[in-house]
Amino acid sequence: MRVGVLTGGGDCPGLNAVIRAVVRKGVQEYGHEFVGYRDGWRGPLEGRSAPLDIPAVRGILPRGGTIIGSSRTNPLKVENGIRRIKDTLARQEVEALIVIGGEDTLGVAARLSGEHAVPCVGVPKTIDNDLSATDYTFGFDTAVGIATEAIDRLHTTAESHMRVLVVEVMGRHAGWIALHSGLAGGANVILIPEQRFDVDQVCAWVTSRFRASYAPIVVTAEGAMPKDGDLVLKDGTLDAFGHVRLSGVGEWLAKEIEKRTGNEARTTVLGHVQRGGTPSAFDRWLATRFGLHAVDAVHERDFGTMVALRGTDIVRVPIAEATARLKTVDPRLYDEAGVFFG
Ligand code: F6P
Repeated sequence: MRVGVLTGGGDCPGLNAVIRAVVRKGVQEYGHEFVGYRDGWRGPLEGRSAPLDIPAVRGILPRGGTIIGSSRTNPLKVENGIRRIKDTLARQEVEALIVIGGEDTLGVAARLSGEHAVPCVGVPKTIDNDLSATDYTFGFDTAVGIATEAIDRLHTTAESHMRVLVVEVMGRHAGWIALHSGLAGGANVILIPEQRFDVDQVCAWVTSRFRASYAPIVVTAEGAMPKDGDLVLKDGTLDAFGHVRLSGVGEWLAKEIEKRTGNEARTTVLGHVQRGGTPSAFDRWLATRFGLHAVDAVHERDFGTMVALRGTDIVRVPIAEATARLKTVDPRLYDEAGVFFG
């Protein structure tokens, strides 16, 4: 069988590990042939692909990013998008697609396989860990590790100057990175998109931390929002590509803390550092296992399914199950972290 592979959405450490596992097992055990589509859904839309054979995937396991490129192109929003994809697959004699992506990319795969008879198998990825139906997505562990290391470093400089250090991490809709790195890094305040925060309460925690002679570290997810009345963020601004920008909460919060407590504050926005570079051992392990199981699903023609982690098992679920709703932070987990605030 000829199988197409694509990676869509924001890149994430571990994508190459999936591609390598798919190709290695698919060629060696099943004798399938693979082509890599360039830049997510844009590849099959424009018919841009290149053969993915064993030499092509040699040495890529520890490499960040994706060797086949990625984009946020959504064919459902492109004129004749589905028709063009079907034409490409027919012309290139590709019988199945392995789609590695997050909510948006997998949403397209669910529609294509459910409504348009395009045989797809999904592999979940996102550093945000906000996809339902899987306990973890690869990329998350790496991002949490990078954010934790940054928080560790910020503690010492905060202490030296007795300043407040606000750290803004990724997570527009879910606070998983903020919660995990905040706990692992010993943050004194953690703010997540799931729960609007009260700036006065944040200032009270900051002040109590100073009273105990320590400098506070505030970890905020980029999508965290203050309670109404305090809302002066650049909410809803679109960038040149039409993406909604919610950034700026860290900067804004540091200014408010200075104004309201009289303590000096600085902001660090970690941004894409969290997405780049080599994947952690856990992410390589998870991405590799996802790749091996995805190729099994293709071989068995079990289309419309996505591989997912449940405990330590890799299972198959309908792709639509992962994209139906976002997996946000359980309030009980957030409350649990509250003992360290202030
Ligand atoms: O969805 C993954 C993610 O890294 C988010 O955490 C972040 O808000 C977004 O992508 C950034 O997207 P872009 O790289 O397109 O600016």
